[in-house]
Amino acid sequence: MTTNKKQIVIVGATSAIAEQCARIWIKEAPTELILIARDAKKTEALAIDLRLRSTEASVRVFAVDFFDIVAIATLIDKLCAERCPDIVLIAHGSLSDQAQCQQDLVAVCEALEINGMSPALFAEGFAGHMAKHNAGTLALIGSVAGDRGRKSNYIYGAAKGLITRYAQGLQHRFAGTNVKVVLIKPGPTATPMTAHLPQQGFASAVTVASYIVKGIQQGKAVVYAPGKWALIMMIIRHLPTFVFNKLNI
Ligand SMILES: NC(=O)c1ccc[n+]([C@@H]2O[C@H](COP(=O)([O-])OP(=O)(O)OC[C@H]3O[C@@H](n4cnc5c(N)ncnc54)[C@H](OP(=O)(O)O)[C@@H]3O)[C@@H](O)[C@H]2O)c1
Repeated sequence: MTTNKKQIVIVGATSAIAEQCARIWIKEAPTELILIARDAKKTEALAIDLRLRSTEASVRVFAVDFFDIVAIATLIDKLCAERCPDIVLIAHGSLSDQAQCQQDLVAVCEALEINGMSPALFAEGFAGHMAKHNAGTLALIGSVAGDRGRKSNYIYGAAKGLITRYAQGLQHRFAGTNVKVVLIKPGPTATPMTAHLPQQGFASAVTVASYIVKGIQQGKAVVYAPGKWALIMMIIRHLPTFVFNKLNI
């Protein structure tokens, strides 16, 4: 199925941040959206809402197990045989419970898989097709938590750090080509993932989505969302260890 509409694939489409990105994209222009998530029913409900918001949007839904390598590769190959997407946004993730991880290796494994390995699998699958077509923008949602390991969330942070290194490598691979790789690092954002935390000072998903959509449109290498986190994390990254180790963060 080929159309003149921009085709955007969202992996982890039911994420609150991703949903807001989808709303912006379909408002901006007639768009062919492909929503990929684990829960078909929830994703179809999202698709219905998006179709109501824009009659010009075409929205399709695919459910897949985010840890099933064969299923992921098969789905990506099937979609890219139809058409290589203009934009792929990889959004899924889950805030691990650091205290639980320190007691339970299964929790560690799950946190590393959903926040690090699974996004890299999807990204690598789409990257191969974008390389062949020498076109497309691949955007991955990492986190400010990946910028420096901290005692309060280093398991989640380690997985997000994997996304940072992975995106850097992809950017190096695609330098000088038409393929763009955008690494997004949101700061704390009010979404279901953080609903159990005090949300004072958190950005809204709408705000973060607006930074993401703009950053992708500009083909930026790194997008902090909101932008103030670039400065905050630069300071955190550069704090000497003897100072950093005294902080309760
Ligand atoms: N919120 C923040 O403060 C914050 C800060 C920095 C970075 N981020 C990152 O932003 C991205 C979007 O998160 P969000 O805040 O929008 O959270 P969210 O609304 O809770 O969305 C999380 C997404 O990940 C999916 N997911 C979680 N576990 C999964 C699993 N085992 N298998 C398949 N899918 C799974 C969820 O699917 P279901 O809908 O089926 O549960 C949902 O699509 C994530 O990568 C997150 O790490 C968030």
